[in-house]
Amino acid sequence: MKQLLVFLCGCLALATSFAAPAHHDVMMADHPHVQEDSHHHAKFDRCKGIEFDAIAPDEKGNTFFFKGDHLWKGFSGPAELANGTFKELDEYHHLGHVDAAFRMHNKDGDPLKDHDHIFFFLGDKVFSYYNHSLEKGYPLEIQQVFPGIPCHLDAAVECPKGECITDSVLFFKGHEVYSFDIKTKTVKKKLWNHLPNCTSAFRWLEHYYCFHGHNFTRFNPVSGEVEGNYPKDARRYFMRCQDFGHGAEHRKPRCKLDAMSMDDTGKTYAFIESMYIRLDSHRDGSHPFPITRSWKEVSGRVDAVFNHGDRIYIIQGNQIYIYKSATPYTLIEGYPKPLKDELGIEGPVNAAFLCANEHVVHIIKGQKMLDIDLAATPRAAKSEFPLSIADIDAAICDAEGVKVYVGAKYYLYQSPRILAMGKIMPVAHKISPEKFGCEE
Ligand SMILES: *[C@@H]1O[C@H](CO)[C@@H](O)[C@H](O)[C@H]1NC(C)=O
Ligand SMILES: *[C@@H]1O[C@H](CO)[C@@H](O)[C@H](O)[C@H]1NC(C)=O
Ligand SMILES: *[C@@H]1O[C@H](CO)[C@@H](O)[C@H](O)[C@H]1NC(C)=O
Ligand SMILES: *[C@@H]1O[C@H](CO)[C@@H](O)[C@H](O)[C@H]1NC(C)=O
Repeated sequence: MKQLLVFLCGCLALATSFAAPAHHDVMMADHPHVQEDSHHHAKFDRCKGIEFDAIAPDEKGNTFFFKGDHLWKGFSGPAELANGTFKELDEYHHLGHVDAAFRMHNKDGDPLKDHDHIFFFLGDKVFSYYNHSLEKGYPLEIQQVFPGIPCHLDAAVECPKGECITDSVLFFKGHEVYSFDIKTKTVKKKLWNHLPNCTSAFRWLEHYYCFHGHNFTRFNPVSGEVEGNYPKDARRYFMRCQDFGHGAEHRKPRCKLDAMSMDDTGKTYAFIESMYIRLDSHRDGSHPFPITRSWKEVSGRVDAVFNHGDRIYIIQGNQIYIYKSATPYTLIEGYPKPLKDELGIEGPVNAAFLCANEHVVHIIKGQKMLDIDLAATPRAAKSEFPLSIADIDAAICDAEGVKVYVGAKYYLYQSPRILAMGKIMPVAHKISPEKFGCEE
């Protein structure tokens, strides 16, 4: 049944406090092992400024950009024929291009059914692909799979629960946006007149981008709001083009971490210089961002970071910042505060970590480990252990144990206690420059 609840939009926008997050986009194309886009295929050169028909990642996190009967794989490289990868699209290629595409996020549904499938829209038909093979029974009429969604779409993008209210898909046609609830199959129609007409839409690392012409505009998936200085030229951010690079500004840092932390949903961050990198989002590839993109008020390098409950604690010199972990991160009122007032110790510190379901944070300061019970008031270092390991940059406690980072190496201890008591240095492991986006 078709339900167009235009009047609900206002309420929905209020129900979630999504402010458009970032202040800085960095060059997504600035990724290890990229090659320059060049003129391999005379028909389409994306450095000349292409208006894409559709953009969608596959189940492995490879992003596909579509234009006419061609596609590009990833943020760099030449155009190739789309039928080489998605064979059957060609047989129905009466339109000569795809209208829209998105990768389905439906973890709550039958996982074998359509989670991570790519859906393509051509005229009134929808195609579902997994592992680059067309699913049995497809193509189908759009109405059969997505009742209430019009034909001849402009763009589509997944919007998982947490970023949208429920697992949803946003469909774009002109200024009309149809928010499709995957579970209930209900549709809410919105009018986002302030947003350019999107010819493709793309979700990347929890941010939402509307592509129009060779530009893109980042928007909030719930309210449609645009915050910040848009549009921006896609060639500077989503592809690698001569004359559109950022040059030396984007040099890779040395492999020496400042801090690392993981929250209870598994989001893992490493901090190096003024940048951070998400280590758990392989589905979207790994890319560094300025720290201020997520934590607006924190400028410069950080010393230590840890998570406790739904908060992230960032220590910088003698100051501590505490943020609520909901997207986007919001600084709790009254912070930053002196470290002394919050934890009863003086900065600077080297590292901090907390193990799952514990409330004792272990702070590494010089060659000592200080244990502070976050459940106690006032807080103070209740015990102190001399460590046999020096020059610690960062530490994290995960399912494998306590990992202690020193320069480009890390050491694994089974528990905080073994780190405190152990006299024997464990085997050194090398950190992966690729994973951390750094250079040895
Ligand atoms: C793909 O399309 C091109 C041009 O339309 C055609 O020459 C080629 O045979 C097609 N390839 C496949 C695998 O269908
Ligand atoms: C994916 O497709 C390839 C080639 O078509 C096939 O060899 C492979 O077994 C498939 N993988 C899965 C997990 O279905
Ligand atoms: C946007 O789409 C609407 C509806 O299809 C159309 O009327 C309008 O002219 C488009 N605007 C631009 C700038 O293309
Ligand atoms: C792209 O955006 C720039 C502003 O960043 C604007 O000046 C330009 O007209 C836009 N071009 C297109 C084709 O939308």
